[in-house]
Amino acid sequence: MPTTTGHAATPPAAPLHAAIIMDGNGRWAKKRALPRILGHRAGVQALRRTVEAAPDCGVGVLTVYGFSTENWRRPETEVSELMGLLKTFVDNDLEQLAREGVKVRILGRREGLKPDIVKIIERAESRTAENSRFLLQVAFNYGGQADIVDAARRFAEAVERGEARAADLDEGVLERGLSTAGVPHPDLIVRTSGERRLSNFLLWECAYAELIFQDVLWPDYGPEHLKAAVAEFNKRERRYGGTTVDDVYAAG
Ligand code: IPE
Ligand code: IPE
Ligand code: MG
Repeated sequence: MPTTTGHAATPPAAPLHAAIIMDGNGRWAKKRALPRILGHRAGVQALRRTVEAAPDCGVGVLTVYGFSTENWRRPETEVSELMGLLKTFVDNDLEQLAREGVKVRILGRREGLKPDIVKIIERAESRTAENSRFLLQVAFNYGGQADIVDAARRFAEAVERGEARAADLDEGVLERGLSTAGVPHPDLIVRTSGERRLSNFLLWECAYAELIFQDVLWPDYGPEHLKAAVAEFNKRERRYGGTTVDDVYAAG
């Protein structure tokens, strides 16, 4: 279930789950006549700043899109540089994140990733498994459609084993098979760089998320942008298919 309900004027009771499509690294580099990889490196710095600022912005869960199932279509050198950046991020930042009480979870398919990358992912998750102050989820080799397919397949396998029947399938059952299982859906999904699409991010979980588009390129992102996104979120009224609080009063 979504974490927050109620009228827009009511501040959210629980820390928010913000999800970010970190887009615009390539354009940031191009504007400076730099190779794309330098845009991605600057993007990692922006991620650090954003994680650091999140608790003060009222965010308790941050999910970021690091590498999509479609990003394999990029030139091989860029793909391997992006893989390398995950390794650098874990090598340089894991200890500090762990000490600060951040739990790290990597979403997406492990199949298709090289064994050394899978090891890095497992190290990041196991080193921070006991933490609970803040949750950082990194979607890596992640696609919303692939994640739904994997969840459906898990259920179909249970049917094949005779442990479930087709009629048992409902939203809750499917949801428990997703790589995001156990974490409330995002309250807001932010996309930077001016693009206005989801690009296969959190397709199931976005059902009632507030979509916020910010024109800043990801490497330029910082605390002030996250603060602005949350302020925009707080102005929205979430109705979940119901009526507004005002309508209820008007109807007496
Ligand atoms: C986002 O920046 C990072 C990843 C997709 C890994 P891009 O690399 O997509 O940057 P643009 O969209 O080309 O500017
Ligand atoms: C989405 O951005 C993926 C990530 C941010 C990791 P893309 O830049 O790959 O998306 P499109 O291709 O513009 O839709
Ligand atoms: Mg892009």
